[in-house]
Amino acid sequence: MRKWIVAGNWKMHNTIAESIALARAIKEGFSGSANGEVVVAPPFTALSAVGDALKGSAVRLAAQNMYSEDKGAFTGEISPVMLKDAGCACVIIGHSERRKFFSETDDGVNAKVKKALAAGLKPIVCVGETDEERVQGVTQSVVGRQVRGALAGVEKLDDVVIAYEPVWAIGTGKVATSAQAEEVHAFVRGLIRELFGAAAEELRILYGGSVTKDNVAELAAMEDIDGALVGGASLKPDGFLGIIAKMP
Ligand code: PGA
Repeated sequence: MRKWIVAGNWKMHNTIAESIALARAIKEGFSGSANGEVVVAPPFTALSAVGDALKGSAVRLAAQNMYSEDKGAFTGEISPVMLKDAGCACVIIGHSERRKFFSETDDGVNAKVKKALAAGLKPIVCVGETDEERVQGVTQSVVGRQVRGALAGVEKLDDVVIAYEPVWAIGTGKVATSAQAEEVHAFVRGLIRELFGAAAEELRILYGGSVTKDNVAELAAMEDIDGALVGGASLKPDGFLGIIAKMP
């Protein structure tokens, strides 16, 4: 059985003090579960403080991005070594906001995924089509290209998590129907089966895009949906703990 993951992507929200308060509330509300894992991704400035606040809890720390080098003259960037040092176990890579606003490419995502794995970080690799692409009927070719691109040259899938996040569902309140999501999740698992064989059965594929405590149960009932990547609803303890409570 694949263990569910609920991951909170705080995006560019929360000061250090606000981040600590949110982390403490999540820690208090989630005492661990045999069924699932909980991850939070605060902004870089709060990583270390949130890591300290979460000590002794089952909640794991993630970063929202990283650079694909260990160190060097890359002003403004953060390396996987630094993320490990700050207490991160995971890192979100290739979020659609990074692709859209910061021109991330499949090749760039691939370099980051390989570097994260080499550094011992578990990458949560985001893929997903835009509204326009869905209307054009190219969802599978876009998502397929992103998955193949992100995982090119990756040998072991053990530590990789994929998040399917249709861009039109992110921050819009327009969640994909469970059938729409499942169709893409099953497609991704089929593609992974083609590329990596039996490891596809162990791979966790999260859904992201307007997930709330009110719609997560329906998504969770789907065969190939193994967790949720949550933006807006992860910023309030009640919203996030409400989703965690519904882990199958
Ligand atoms: P949302 O964001 O839950 O606010 O739609 C999800 C994400 O971008 O990961």
